[in-house]
Amino acid sequence: MTFFKKKRIYLDYASTTPVLREVKKEMDKYWTEAFHNPSSIYEEGVDRKRELDAYRTKVARILGVQAKEVIFTSGGTESDNTAILGAFEVAREKFAKPHLIISSIEHPAVSEAAKEVIRRGGEVSVAGVDEEGFIQPVNVLKLLRKETFMVSIMLANNEIGTIEPVSKVARLLREERKKNNSLYPYIHTDASQAPNTYKVNAEQLHVDLLTLDGSKIYGPKGA
Ligand SMILES: Cc1ncc(COP(=O)(O)O)c(C=O)c1O
Repeated sequence: MTFFKKKRIYLDYASTTPVLREVKKEMDKYWTEAFHNPSSIYEEGVDRKRELDAYRTKVARILGVQAKEVIFTSGGTESDNTAILGAFEVAREKFAKPHLIISSIEHPAVSEAAKEVIRRGGEVSVAGVDEEGFIQPVNVLKLLRKETFMVSIMLANNEIGTIEPVSKVARLLREERKKNNSLYPYIHTDASQAPNTYKVNAEQLHVDLLTLDGSKIYGPKGA
């Protein structure tokens, strides 16, 4: 006979969170009543497009970007892949062997995308971290090449919780871009793990591309 039912306590909020009640309430009508394709031309579709644009504007305001710069994806992996491989395909028009720099502690969503860059004919350098798990911005600069199309450094690490000096790296890279009168390298950060403990704002981080993951910030899975 069991007298005590063990109480289970969930401690893995960094991995995924429940959907916030307010979010669920806001989303409710979209499952059954307001399910229309926002790209369609009839009234209901036009209404959905207007609502979607309003949500896009809200998200943009929080992140310090323009609404047209917000792209909704199915989550962290798709976002990282879109950022890295999308920029790679564009850079191919300029460079024979576009070069990517990532840190040695990236989530597989980034490190596997880097392997895909190599499969497609690009090159990748990996910047190591110190004994405490922090990237040293100067070490990133040392890896720069004329053909570097992107530097991707995560903001908050998913295993050890370090907050990486992304804005410092980004500022140094922006100086390099200015010096070379070039748009490259783009600066991407996987901030999937950051928003619950850190204010994420693309403008303040000085990054060009930023990944977020709805399932880790009390939003639905697949967002
Ligand atoms: C830092 C980081 N990036 C990307 C992902 C992948 O996100 P998703 O599972 O939404 O594809 C995760 C998931 O744990 C993560 O922690």
